[in-house]
Amino acid sequence: MIEIAIDGPAGAGKSTISKITAGNLKLLYIDTGAMFRAVTFYFISNNIDYENEESVNKYIDDICIELKHINGIQHIYLNGNDVTKEIRTEEISKAVSVVAKNQKIREMLLDIQRKIAKENNVVMDGRDIGTCVLPNAGLKIFLVASVEERARRRYKQLVRRGKTADYDEILVNLKKRDEQDMTREIAPLKKANDAIIIDSTNMTLEKVVKIIVTLANERF
Ligand code: CDP
Repeated sequence: MIEIAIDGPAGAGKSTISKITAGNLKLLYIDTGAMFRAVTFYFISNNIDYENEESVNKYIDDICIELKHINGIQHIYLNGNDVTKEIRTEEISKAVSVVAKNQKIREMLLDIQRKIAKENNVVMDGRDIGTCVLPNAGLKIFLVASVEERARRRYKQLVRRGKTADYDEILVNLKKRDEQDMTREIAPLKKANDAIIIDSTNMTLEKVVKIIVTLANERF
């Protein structure tokens, strides 16, 4: 099976780049961040204190996460409901890194992620794909960009979606999330030894995609 792992901090362009790359190479794109977001959505919409590990663990068995691809687009289902749009708020973005620290949640999602990669040729993006989820992936990319550029991109993305956005607040949230993702005990955001670093700060999306597609064509 073909496995391409794309990891990196928030706003580096992982999801857009992974989506286009998967389309070009006819692979299935899997956005693992959406799974953590859907779990976070469950806790927030049910008013469960997601910062309390005990209460989180108590509700895990009530959470069912499923992915379906409709016309090539990933849809994420939480207990049978399509929450693809609902998970893209700043409220979820702020909370998700706290939920993602939880070991039981990570284990539950890891099972789903590995099962999908076993049955499909994938481009999978996240934080721990190259280090933990798919350690034998044939191509691993670590996609980075300066935090200011990442905040600018996130700001523009929210405005494009018709949401209100505050650049300074986004910058602070991104820095906080990077810190939480990089310093957590389980599966932190880290470059795998055999990953290739691409700094997209001054690169167009097309250029980054071209580099990855070229590498993939050489390897697979
Ligand atoms: O799209 P964005 O870069 O803002 O983030 P995302 O990919 O939707 O991921 C949201 C959060 O989920 C991350 O900040 C991580 O805390 C967590 N995550 C993770 O821990 N492991 C993954 N493989 C993917 C996401």
